[in-house]
Order: sequence, then structure tokens, then C-alpha cells
Amino acid sequence: MLSKTIDAQFETRLTELKDWLAIPSISALPEHHADVRKAGVWAQKYLESMGFTHVEMTGTAGLPIVYAEHCPYPDKPTVLFYGHVDVQPADPLELWKTPPFEATIRDGKLFARGANDDKGQCMVWLGALQALKTVHGHFPVNVKVILESEEEIGGHAVDDYVKAHAEKLKCDAVIVCDTSMYNENTPSICTSLRGIVYTEISVQGGKTDMHSGHYGGVAPNPLHALTLLISRLKNEDGHINIPELYQAIPPVTEDEKAFWEADPVNFTQSLHEEMATPQLYGENEHSPYARTGLRPTLEVHGIIGGFVGEGSKTVIPAKASVKLSLRLPPGMAPQPALEALTKAVHNHMPQGYKVDIKTHGMGAGMATEWDNPYMLKARKAMATVYGKEPAPMRMGGSVPVCAVFDSVLKSPVLLVGFGLPDDDLHAPNEKYSLNQLKKGMHTMALLLEDLGR
Ligand code: BES
Ligand code: MN
Repeated sequence: MLSKTIDAQFETRLTELKDWLAIPSISALPEHHADVRKAGVWAQKYLESMGFTHVEMTGTAGLPIVYAEHCPYPDKPTVLFYGHVDVQPADPLELWKTPPFEATIRDGKLFARGANDDKGQCMVWLGALQALKTVHGHFPVNVKVILESEEEIGGHAVDDYVKAHAEKLKCDAVIVCDTSMYNENTPSICTSLRGIVYTEISVQGGKTDMHSGHYGGVAPNPLHALTLLISRLKNEDGHINIPELYQAIPPVTEDEKAFWEADPVNFTQSLHEEMATPQLYGENEHSPYARTGLRPTLEVHGIIGGFVGEGSKTVIPAKASVKLSLRLPPGMAPQPALEALTKAVHNHMPQGYKVDIKTHGMGAGMATEWDNPYMLKARKAMATVYGKEPAPMRMGGSVPVCAVFDSVLKSPVLLVGFGLPDDDLHAPNEKYSLNQLKKGMHTMALLLEDLGR
């Protein structure tokens, strides 16, 4: 009955999702902040129409946080759903086969910015709740919902909100659909996320740009100094010269050791194929599972400085900067990581430059126990729908508020996402498999029914 209802309502859910996806809620671009707000209002109205008794939207000065609850049962567990209504910028637009904010179905996949991350994944639990309500007349458990809109820019408004409203958000488990599975035939549940420290390191040499003939040979060159710094911070073999980052790597559990060794997903090969590269880069003495899920990374996102116009200009730049981030082992706090990075930058920076480090965003990683009773129920629901026991999967991305749920609410955070590795998150032609969306709804509905028993 429940299963039939999910399928019968699927087209309606898809139409609603397309409607939500049409709002370009790009948090990184101030000119789209009105749209971010619109996406929040859309969610608020949607939750109201679903019968949530208490729906509110806050954060009027910044970007919205939507909160809703329906908690009529003193003797049933309470589940808190989290998601984000903001999306990444859609550029480069010319690489999209269909416009990013006109959701389009091709080959059983829904293409749009946010189709997966995270509006499509939110529709997983929204769809499950809708079907449960149709079948039973109500939700089977107490439900709370928190939707934020600064996830994609590392904003901490939601962290402050959770800390300030810990009592209101009290729950038995947090459920988040914002992660992926190994592939469509390998159900998996995310057991940890990495933390992140995103910085911009600016370097000043002379007081102004200089003639490279007149001063070349005696002038400092901040662009060259930056590249020296970068190469000293991480070796060609992928080792980061910040020892502190390696001190808090959590041990590998028995379950995951077994999965890594059996390697049924042929992980190295899949990574090759996804990236279309001839080899894997980085610490080859460690398994790709550990390198993408557990170990720290240091990546350069962009270098700004010097002459990049057409033709040539013989100039030694006065300034240069680099956007550089660290991913942190789950469990490592971002503040000490930033301090360790700062120390390393000062140690490795060539002499005689003025260096400034600015942070653009920080967040801790977190981990969830594979044998937690709520995790066991999630595993059971997924096994029923996919016909196979799910595998534990460490994921290298970050959803910073999850660490706050873990430490402040002290409830297990279930990262039960239905993305696939080739969904092209943050890239052109982001997509979400309709099959995964539907199976996600089935899994979530079974899980909620089970929790309500
Ligand atoms: N949904 C992703 C996180 C993710 C991606 C988890 C892939 C697991 C697999 C999330 O929306 C995201 O992209 N987060 C940002 C956070 C950052 C901007 C602070 C990230 O990880 O870059
Ligand atoms: Mn994202």
C-alpha cells in the first residue's frame, strides 16, 4: 500500500521538485539572495501544505532558515530532517545541455542545478512523508525539519541557530539526504564526512608593480614565492607538510576494512572512469578509500596575481594570492588545523614577504557509528529496498552543521543519501537519477514506519 502510494504520487512530487529547482537560489552570489529567500518561502509553504503544525522562517537579515515541526506523540521517537535550499553557481553556462534552472528529464535522470544537491535529495524525505500521510493519515513519528541556505558557502548561521535552539531541536535521530552511494547497485550509507578550512593567502612583495628589466634580479616576486610555498606545503607524492593533520586520523573499523579489501565496487577503476584520468594522484601507499574519505587533503583552487591579459607585459607583480583549502579527518577540529596551516605557511614562505591569511569558511567533520540502533534501522530499510546489505562509506565532502548536530544535540546523524558518483555536483549538467529518487523515498518511508513501531 505504502509502496504503491509512493509510486502513484511520484509524478506529482517530480512536478513540485521542478518548480523548486526553477528558483536560482545561489547563495554565493549576492544578486541571487532574493532567490535564496524565495526558495526558503517555497519550502515554508510546502511544509505548511503538508500539515506541519508549526512552521517558521527566520534569518530575515541574512539568508533564511526554515524550521517546521509536527510532534503530537509523547511516546514516539522524534526525527529531525536537515537539508539546504541553496545551490552552487551554475557557470560555465555554455556547458549545460539544457538550462540549469529549467529541470529537464533525459535518460531517466533529472538535470538541473540542485537536482541532487540538495533539493532533489530533500524530496526523498518529503516524498516519503507525503506518502505516509496519505496511507496512515499522519506521520508515524514526531517530525522536525530544519532547512538552511548557506551550506554551499560555509556560513555558520545554522550552527548558531542549532546552538541557540538546542531544546527545540531535541530529537532521537537526525536524518540527512545530502550524500551519495558507491553506485546504483551498491547501496551504501555514509559513515563520516571530512571537515574543511578554506583560506585565501595573500602575499605582498614590493610596494607597487615593477619593470621586470629594471628590477629583475633584485626584486621580490610574490607570484613565484607563492608557488614555492604551495610546493613546500604539499609534495608531489601527495604528502602534506603539516604533521598535525595526520595526528587525528580515526582508525578503520572491521566492517569497512572488510569492504575495502573485498573491493566489490572496484574503487580505483571507478575513480579513473569518473575523472577520466590515466592514473590516481596523491598518496599511492594509501588506499583510495582512505584518501577520499579519511585522510587530510590540501588543494589549490585558484591563484590570483600578475599579468593575465592578452599579449605580454614585462612586470613583476607587487601582490599575489591563492585560494587554498584543507579537508580534515573526521573528528579534527578546524581551529587547530587553521593554526597548524598558519604555522606551516610562515615556516615555508620565502623570506621578505608580507603574508596575510584570511579564512572564508570552516567546519568540522563527523562520524556516525555503524552499529547505532538508528543506523541499524536505516541499514535494514535500505537492504529491503535494494535487496542487498548496504556498505559503510566514508565521504570526503563536508556538511558542516552535522558536526554541530552531533556535539550539541547529541543525537546520531544518519547520512542516508541517494546520490550517485557521476551526478556532477557543483559542475555543469548536475543530475539526479529518478530511480534513486524513488528508491530513496521507499527506503525513507520504510525507515520512518519502522521507527514509529
Ligand atoms: N552535498 C555536499 C557534500 C557532499 C558531497 C558530501 C559529496 C558527500 C559527497 C555539500 O552540499 C557540499 O558540497 N558541501 C561543501 C561545504 C563547504 C562549502 C563548506 C563542500 O563539501 O565543499
Ligand atoms: Mn554541495
